[in-house]
Amino acid sequence: MSKTYSIAIDGPAGAGKSTIARRLAKELGYYYVDTGAIYRTVAYFLDLLGISPKDVDGVERYIDELTVEIQYDEDGVQHMLMNGIDVTNDIRTQDISQKASLVSAHGVVRGVLLDMQRDVAKQHNVIMDGRDIGTVVLPKADVKIFLTASAEVRAQRRTKELLAKGQKAQYEQILKEIQQRDYQDTHRPIAPLKMAKDSIKVDTSEMDIEQVIAAIREIVERKIPV
Ligand code: DC
Repeated sequence: MSKTYSIAIDGPAGAGKSTIARRLAKELGYYYVDTGAIYRTVAYFLDLLGISPKDVDGVERYIDELTVEIQYDEDGVQHMLMNGIDVTNDIRTQDISQKASLVSAHGVVRGVLLDMQRDVAKQHNVIMDGRDIGTVVLPKADVKIFLTASAEVRAQRRTKELLAKGQKAQYEQILKEIQQRDYQDTHRPIAPLKMAKDSIKVDTSEMDIEQVIAAIREIVERKIPV
């Protein structure tokens, strides 16, 4: 098999990982793999069964009943299948964000999903975003970026985004949820969110999307042929 290239983008919730990764994947002709969506699918499945994301025994008992698949449509958009059902849109709620963060702390969940993520990267050039891509999933990724911004800026962006969609959004509440998720994602014992030693940090607090794209493209072009 010919060499595939991989770009890992890790960082906290709301740093803009998916927006940036999606754009770059399109520009480079890579697959975009949103690994948060995989954890969200697990959280959604357990939620439908009424299993608390903190219930260790429940999670361990029911995880085997779930088959998660990633599919790409003709536009390159990632779809998540939960036992064959497309749940791509259902997993995008604040409630599932919090539950995915809790569910992702279980070793059994992370173990089940690891090979699936690695397999995609073996077969395709990928930009993969998440929390542990550069540290655990693809430690040999060709490019590793740690994308971050202050919690306040991330909460402001998220508030604007929701309001623009005509949805309700309260800055203080969103900030609180972001801080809670940051805490959970960085303090779990298994594969916590942290910067890989060979990762390049990009703080987007004072940057707009175009500036971030340009900065990351420059980093990518230094490391892999594009
Ligand atoms: O990126 P996101 O907000 O969709 O991710 C939802 C949750 O999933 C996040 O709070 C933590 C977890 N997650 C993870 O533990 N590891 C990843 N590689 C991606 C997400």
